[in-house]
Amino acid sequence: MKRPNPGMTLLKRRLLSMILFAFGGCGTDPASFIVAPRETDAVSGGITNLQPYMGRLQSSANASSDMGQFMLASCGCGDWRVLLIPNDGNAKTQFPVTFYSNGDYQPTGEVAVYALDGQTGFSGMVDQDAGTLSGRALNGSFRAFVSATRGGDVHAQPVDACVLCHLGDDPVLPLPDWHVTNYYDYPEVCLHCHSANGQ
Ligand code: HEC
Ligand code: HEC
Repeated sequence: MKRPNPGMTLLKRRLLSMILFAFGGCGTDPASFIVAPRETDAVSGGITNLQPYMGRLQSSANASSDMGQFMLASCGCGDWRVLLIPNDGNAKTQFPVTFYSNGDYQPTGEVAVYALDGQTGFSGMVDQDAGTLSGRALNGSFRAFVSATRGGDVHAQPVDACVLCHLGDDPVLPLPDWHVTNYYDYPEVCLHCHSANGQ
């Protein structure tokens, strides 16, 4: 991948991303909806702040037409994962993502987040100072624009993310029968035995 020009102004960057945006939607390959990061260095272990990003799937970047629920969260398995819960009754989808920075990762400023595997993927930017995320999600013929905030509307904590993927209705990875069951009454106990990021 070509290294970005460090002297590039923010305005040029914005213009470039608008051009990429304009072309991104009309490629014949659905995967071109997802925009590869310009940042070159994968952030090992993910970002520092482990609070999950919760938000919505929308049919366009600005419209409020709601297509479902979105989450970006760390998993006790060591990955950061995206979870898509579409409104249309289709199954939940989740997959691991990678953060990218230019040079050494800093826990402030913007960091890119990206994944693409066949026709399933995500691309976006996290503003670590504002605690906001915007991006695009793809799953087969499903395409959505994403906007999310750290903690979401309800100040969600890492353990709320564990519960959304591992417990409750139709979990993406149900806990096995042999797993301890004290979480039934107190779901927040996950982090007594597991870490939020597998470290
Ligand atoms: C977006 C969904 C998602 C979230 C959020 C999530 N997990 Fe997971 N978790 C998974 C999936 C999928 C796997 C299976 C990964 C695999 O086998 O590659 C997994 C695996 C695990 C494992 C098994 C690791 C191993 O090496 O066998 C543990 C433990 C775990 N998760 C704990 C947690 C805890 C604790 C949290 C909250 C901090 C959490 N997860 C949040 C989806 C999620
Ligand atoms: C009392 C301790 C304890 C608590 C509380 C606990 N776990 Fe576990 N969990 C374990 C142990 C022990 C294992 C098996 C060893 C391992 O994989 O780390 C395990 C395994 C797992 C696995 C891997 C299952 C597999 O198929 O390999 C997942 C996922 C998981 N826990 C998620 C959770 C979540 C989510 C919570 C909170 C709702 C939770 N755990 C609460 C002790 C605990």
